[in-house]
Amino acid sequence: MTDTAHACSNCSQHGEAERPNRADLTRRKALAAFGAFLGSIGLATASEAANAAAKTYVACKTSKVPVKGAYLAKVGGRSILITQPKKGVFRAFDPTCTHAGCQLSGMSGTNLVCNCHGATFSSDSGAPTGGPANVGLAKIKVAVAAGSVRVTF
Ligand code: FES
Repeated sequence: MTDTAHACSNCSQHGEAERPNRADLTRRKALAAFGAFLGSIGLATASEAANAAAKTYVACKTSKVPVKGAYLAKVGGRSILITQPKKGVFRAFDPTCTHAGCQLSGMSGTNLVCNCHGATFSSDSGAPTGGPANVGLAKIKVAVAAGSVRVTF
């Protein structure tokens, strides 16, 4: 018979790879406690907490964003880079380069460019396409309504 309820982090019945380490157990306890806290204040998950705090802003008219181009908008006290990789398709990104934090400053073809060290990012997905950055741009929720680009964060 297998004992599945024993605390096996210190037992000799399992191999090293099967045992959860103490850091994992502590992290699980902390996440469970955080989930219980969110539940106690009426929020079931961390993503629900983030959504509850998010606001939607009108960033600009759709006509401000050229097809295959980008427009840097100031919205809610921060800069948001809005792109239109195809006619009628809008994306929004944090314009902070994921390499070392410079603000993206131009375009080359359909790529967003950081002039600090030459990283490039897809204006459609935000994925790195060249240079030293290997992490994509932070995406921002975007929608179009009544001829305006709206962003939510
Ligand atoms: S900070 Fe953008 S490429 Fe280095």
